[in-house]
Amino acid sequence: MAGNIACLRGWHPALAKAELSALFPNNEMISLDSQRLVEISGKLDIEKVTDIIQYSSGTQAVLLDCVVMSWNEESSLDEFISQVSNKIENSDKAGTFGVVHWRQEGKIKDLSGSKLAGMIGGIAGKKGFTIDLDKPDNKLGLVLDGSSNQVVCGWLIDYESIEGNSNTRRATERPFFKPISLDPKLARLAVNLAGGPLDEYAVLDPMTGTGGFVIEAALIGRNAIALDLEQEMVNGAMKNVLWALGSEEITTAEHIQIIRGDATDLANSIPRKWHQKISGLVLDPPYGRNSHGSLSHFDLIRNTLISYRDVASEDATIVLILPIKPPQVKKLELQSDGDEIILLHGEWDGFKQLLSECNWRIEGLWVEHVHSSLGRLILHASNVPLN
Ligand SMILES: C[S@@+](CC[C@H](N)C(=O)[O-])C[C@H]1O[C@@H](n2cnc3c(N)ncnc32)[C@H](O)[C@@H]1O
Repeated sequence: MAGNIACLRGWHPALAKAELSALFPNNEMISLDSQRLVEISGKLDIEKVTDIIQYSSGTQAVLLDCVVMSWNEESSLDEFISQVSNKIENSDKAGTFGVVHWRQEGKIKDLSGSKLAGMIGGIAGKKGFTIDLDKPDNKLGLVLDGSSNQVVCGWLIDYESIEGNSNTRRATERPFFKPISLDPKLARLAVNLAGGPLDEYAVLDPMTGTGGFVIEAALIGRNAIALDLEQEMVNGAMKNVLWALGSEEITTAEHIQIIRGDATDLANSIPRKWHQKISGLVLDPPYGRNSHGSLSHFDLIRNTLISYRDVASEDATIVLILPIKPPQVKKLELQSDGDEIILLHGEWDGFKQLLSECNWRIEGLWVEHVHSSLGRLILHASNVPLN
């Protein structure tokens, strides 16, 4: 079978798949038995894929024009080697060659990745390629997926570390840290899920706090507007963005604006040039009463969503993060009607009602387990056009 396959990171494969769908809106994502292997169906622009892997949170690599084999029988090896051999022979690649292999989700019985990679290297050598393991011009990726017993081999486009990866950076290292700060990999994922492919539109972070979302937008060159009611937060978030960019002046981050403003009055809080130019809202509201103490938790969210209508583009989306009691059965993805969802503040049914009154349709719900008594609900919703 030939196809293009994304390898998702292990942190949260279900969210990673949703992020991938948002970043490739014209392709369909088809899971391949394993939660970490997804076929990207339809045409792919290779340059875009290379960029997207660098700025995504959940995608580790994409393998192009793949051979996929279920490793069940002894004959798998001969069949696999023959298909990979044809792939190398029929490719129009020139230059040096290397094989990169890894395994995910456990082992495949009696199969060694390094031996298989060595065999593939041998075939390439026989076909006239010079092997270069350090910096090959052409890389074949070989993935052994233990959960599905599948082996995948395809031309590899992978993440190359330029700055600290969002999966290794920590909020605690920033100059302005508070316990409310979001985990960078979740923040990066939310920004991409809400904003879709990088374009001239902006993501809006109307309750920025220490700037968890806006820092990620800044690092990947995405336009973003961030607000907070508190000047201390505005200054702190700005400090964090400059620190993350390794820069002293905001002029190096012209695509980012961090201003004091009210999330419930967005038309007056964000510059006019951004009205109808916001493609996604990322919202991590405060718990309980807001800092002015005048609105309940739900009313603060409701008023923000109503106000968002004044500045959002037509096909805008939202990503909301809410604290929940972790579900008893560990699950990554939840159904809005089928699963029991216990919000820490307010009732889930009331929240669903609020969303639908504000004309937002739930597209996906995921849970991140923080500790035994705290989880985070990550909710993605799309705009239901008003007639
Ligand atoms: C949970 S914190 C956000 C944390 C953030 N995601 C981070 O990474 O640090 C919520 C923030 O919303 C701000 N806030 C509350 N009500 C607001 C409003 N009406 N408009 C703008 N900001 C508001 C608070 O000052 C607080 O900084």
